[in-house]
Amino acid sequence: MESAEIMVPIAEYADRRRRVLQALEGAAGLVLAGHETPVPSLGRWKTDRMFWYLTGLDHESGAAVLFDPSAEDEAKRITLFVRPRDPEIERWDGPREPIDSALKAKTGFPAIARTTAMPSRLSEAARRTKQLACLHQFANHNGPLSPDLELFRKVSERIPGVSIQDRTQLLPSMRAVKSATELGLIREAISATVAGYDRALSMIRPGIREEEIAQAMTASFREHGGEPAFDPIVGAGANGAVLHYIERNAVITAGDLVVIDYAASYGGYCSDVTRTLPAAGSFTREQRLLYEVVLEANLAAIDAARPGALISDVHRAAEDVIARAGYGDFFIHGIGHQLGAEVHDATPDGPLVSGMVMTIEPGIYLYDRCIGVRVEDDVLLTESGAVTLTVKIPKTVDAIEAAMAGR
Ligand code: GLY
Ligand code: MN
Ligand code: MN
Repeated sequence: MESAEIMVPIAEYADRRRRVLQALEGAAGLVLAGHETPVPSLGRWKTDRMFWYLTGLDHESGAAVLFDPSAEDEAKRITLFVRPRDPEIERWDGPREPIDSALKAKTGFPAIARTTAMPSRLSEAARRTKQLACLHQFANHNGPLSPDLELFRKVSERIPGVSIQDRTQLLPSMRAVKSATELGLIREAISATVAGYDRALSMIRPGIREEEIAQAMTASFREHGGEPAFDPIVGAGANGAVLHYIERNAVITAGDLVVIDYAASYGGYCSDVTRTLPAAGSFTREQRLLYEVVLEANLAAIDAARPGALISDVHRAAEDVIARAGYGDFFIHGIGHQLGAEVHDATPDGPLVSGMVMTIEPGIYLYDRCIGVRVEDDVLLTESGAVTLTVKIPKTVDAIEAAMAGR
């Protein structure tokens, strides 16, 4: 197990697991890491983020955490299962550790066993509690079953009287409220993103390719300890009106607005920022008018984002501004999303609560006029309202033009 990316203290993961154990009210629950694709060198496998949230382990394909709150032996109420060692596979993927006191201390799990023991331990828990709680998100009807439900269905067919409960809100509710450590990591991610935008602001000019901006920003993120949180969107002119534009092969021309939706992650936590910049260094009158509408919508939505509000209230605040300006049909996506261990992070049902970190990202997309504008910030919800975490990235027309003036 590698621990280079574990930056949240081991004790915080243990505390999260204790909270899950308690919330299960006697039902058994299972959180699975998922399975590595067969050839790791062809692309990095990503552990299930629920498993990662509870363990910090990013390289344990096949692993699982079993919550068994009613186990008589208190030491067995939370168990980490890791797959057996295989000397031949270790020749390819590197050595794995034995289960010993060093591994227990390193992972913070007093109880670790091999995955070969998991089926019998799950059945034992099911016979005793008769309640199995689904923690992974349910799939849509046409997708594969969620991994815990798939196992629970098999268990309940073999042990009469076992009921399966929906506890899929539990982990999203926990994950949505960020701890001080998590907020620190998001702030670090944003610092790397700020550096990336400083770089973009200093280099955008007619004649360079969209990809050059993406590459320079990536280098800046890495210089500041970050990694790309997602694939870059850098779209000039009409490309800025294509929401998922990923080609980045166009040459930027003098009259273009350039939509840049690109941000860093740090220690596994993401930021997500969009700025729309004039290639020439200053906005034309037409560009400025459109930009000011989106900016006003961004500010109205930030103002509406507070504990107790629904995401639909926040959306409407932006939509009202955009519709009043006559562009109601051209704001074609949601106002934002939760942000954390995933760019589109786990989202509990219900109103917004204090401690959430979310994006606010209204936009107007006029493909026929070769112009797209989006302004995306990351905000922290507090009792007194939303605090914008991405304030260091120029956002007003004046701030953008001033930042670009020195190029
Ligand atoms: N960068 C992806 C998004 O804005 O949701
Ligand atoms: Mn984005
Ligand atoms: Mn976003």
